[in-house]
Amino acid sequence: MSTAINPDDLKRQAALAALEYIKPGMIVGVGTGSTVNHFIDGLATIKHTIEGAVSSSNASTERLRKYGITVFNLNEVSEIPVYVDGADETNQYLQLIKGGGGALTREKIIAHLAKTFVCIADESKLVPMLGKFPLPIEVIPMARSMIARELVKLGGNPVYRDDFVTDNGNQILDVHNLEIMEPAKLEAQLNNLPGIVTVGIFAIRPADVLILAGKDGVRKIGE
Ligand code: 5RP
Repeated sequence: MSTAINPDDLKRQAALAALEYIKPGMIVGVGTGSTVNHFIDGLATIKHTIEGAVSSSNASTERLRKYGITVFNLNEVSEIPVYVDGADETNQYLQLIKGGGGALTREKIIAHLAKTFVCIADESKLVPMLGKFPLPIEVIPMARSMIARELVKLGGNPVYRDDFVTDNGNQILDVHNLEIMEPAKLEAQLNNLPGIVTVGIFAIRPADVLILAGKDGVRKIGE
């Protein structure tokens, strides 16, 4: 009799495997989401070995502080050796869609600064082409409708994320029906639209390592 795999168990396995990248004295970049919550729980077990963390969301900051882990303001930190975060989708080149939890802007800032970006996920997140997961885009509220019209011209179907305000006071459009064949190109193109704060494609700066947990165990790509 085969036992069903609990997706949350897979997230935990991927998250705990990322602890091997954490070395004594580090300030650790910490992402956001249910997979990262397992990573924070694991980080708490070695908290006396690290200097602290920088966090990509108010939710992660709260969880880190609950464990007594020091959270630094990014302006106090000049380098982040390792950033650990989840993803909504990844392709084989470690280009990602992120922002399902709405924390994409701070996530992209920390990913940019990080020397090594370790992405943690269950194997359902690995896809042949990005775009099945609706692409989150953080927008300045007054530009929302204008940007939505531009996204329709690109073949997308943007949906306003109702009753959601980002940690930066902005709104999110979730764009359905995009087949993202050239992720870095689309990311750059959308980056040029005024009013877009952050595009949830992480392809110009992809992950360096992907830790994937599946029914056959944990494997790493990119190392
Ligand atoms: C939050 C994110 C998350 O990393 C992404 O949504 C994956 O979340 P989860 O680990 O809960 O599946 O980008 O903005």
